[in-house]
Amino acid sequence: MAVIPVDVAGRPYEVRVEAGLIAELVPNCRGLLRKRVVPIVTDANVHAAWGEVVETALRDHGHEPHWRVLPAGEQTKGWETLSATVEWLLDQGVERGDKIVALGGGVIGDLTGFAAAIMKRGCGFIQLPTSLLAQVDSSVGGKTAINTRAGKNLVGSFHQPALVLADLAVLDTLPERELLAGYAEVVKYGLIADADFFAWCEENGKALLGGGSRAREYAVAHSVAHKARIVAADERETSGLRALLNLGHTFGHALEAETDYSDRLLHGEAVAIGMVLAARYSARRGLMPRASAGRISEHFEAVGMRSELRQLGLDCDGQALADHMLHDKKMDAGTLPFVLMKGVGKAYLDREVAISDVAAFLDEELAG
Ligand code: GLY
Repeated sequence: MAVIPVDVAGRPYEVRVEAGLIAELVPNCRGLLRKRVVPIVTDANVHAAWGEVVETALRDHGHEPHWRVLPAGEQTKGWETLSATVEWLLDQGVERGDKIVALGGGVIGDLTGFAAAIMKRGCGFIQLPTSLLAQVDSSVGGKTAINTRAGKNLVGSFHQPALVLADLAVLDTLPERELLAGYAEVVKYGLIADADFFAWCEENGKALLGGGSRAREYAVAHSVAHKARIVAADERETSGLRALLNLGHTFGHALEAETDYSDRLLHGEAVAIGMVLAARYSARRGLMPRASAGRISEHFEAVGMRSELRQLGLDCDGQALADHMLHDKKMDAGTLPFVLMKGVGKAYLDREVAISDVAAFLDEELAG
């Protein structure tokens, strides 16, 4: 088992990575489940796949799971579900020192984490991430949020979990498209600051996606360790370091907004294309060789992912995509910081990017 410490000041916790952690949930929680009743928030799909395993794992150790099973999908991450979930937790008699369990992907983790953050001004929660994306990104680092009419993740808080159990067994039942989308966030760590890890992905990405357990454990643990270092150094995204984790996200969010956050484009798929665009835009500005940007798109193509804006068949121009970026929550006094690259493994935050120049670049990309 890989155990990765996340050393945030005052609230350190561990991420454990191994196959079979959920089946042995109680010993793996190491005393954090202090009462007989354990409140668990999940979605209908995850409940169908993992509900019984969790139920048995808890009952075998004398616990009684109380389930809140929400509809699967992004629409669950809103005010109504949040308030109903908080009321439910209050009805359950959850106290500050208790731990609410979030069993699911990013939607469930973000919603439950935010509910925990505002319950009695902050109670504990445990993340059991059931997607690759949640394991390597959203379950670690304490960003919790819901979506509002004005956009995604605009209301939330930083609230760290007490523990994250990344059970690699869940990846075996994940639809291939979701696995691939999560893989984009794995590649992201190589592109941000670890050229050797990107080379490892080029070499081993197919094995990982094909089910190789050693490759999976290495990739998840390495990604989490990367994120843990960044979060420990810049928990609240104040120094600019944590902002590097948004590589590809500003472009990606614009693509998600243009496709109405629909199944046409999953978040990780948008991030993959977004990272290619960030690299190409960096190359266009002479910051990095075009060939390095080419390596990134070639890798995504090699594992079966879309890497070109044109492949999305969008009916819009560059300005329309750039307009979506203006609603980004990272907008700061009229400027939008962009994560650009000086090479593979050399991402940096650029605060001088002119949105009009990005729009012109996107026009070129849309035209091919
Ligand atoms: N997913 C970006 C972050 O956690 O900062």
